[in-house]
Amino acid sequence: MRMTLASKDQAPSAAPIQRIVLTGFMGSGKSTVGPIVAARLGWRFVDADNVIEAEAGSKIAEIFARYGEAAFRELEHATIARLAATGNLVLALGGGAIERAETRELLLTAAGTLLVHLEVALETTLARCAGTEHERPVLADRTNLETRYARRLPLYRIAHVSVAADALTPEEVADAVVRAAGLA
Ligand code: S3P
Repeated sequence: MRMTLASKDQAPSAAPIQRIVLTGFMGSGKSTVGPIVAARLGWRFVDADNVIEAEAGSKIAEIFARYGEAAFRELEHATIARLAATGNLVLALGGGAIERAETRELLLTAAGTLLVHLEVALETTLARCAGTEHERPVLADRTNLETRYARRLPLYRIAHVSVAADALTPEEVADAVVRAAGLA
């Protein structure tokens, strides 16, 4: 298992970790690993995409289709900013949230927040997410997928911690996350 403890210009704040935020490309395991980490810590798990859908009363694919990606990104940032003010929380972000500079800044600097990148190869995303194109508009946009992946990778990698997740089970990834947070 390779776990890179961020090469990272960005160190987590000195405050005790009270929230772990999972980022990474689609299919990296954020929504699978998050509940495992939360159960281990006795914390709450929240998937930002689920909150957006519940509050909008629409599926993400519908939000993209009706209002466009930019509108979705606004909702996404506002939702994350609100959730990032709460503690004892494991938060899974949508794969594109990292593209917004304000969101990155918030998650890298908020006291008590550990931003963890679950890194997977694009091939892993394609294998794990096959058949979910109807609910993942960014995956369905195949022409731009490789470019998006390449654009995001360096942004994900500025997280406090990166875990190479391609070959690990969700439990192994959860172990690595809990250890990285110093909460094992
Ligand atoms: C997106 C990823 C999705 C969801 C939306 C956009 C992206 O979340 O937020 O469809 O831009 O990569 P997952 O990473 O949980 O699939």
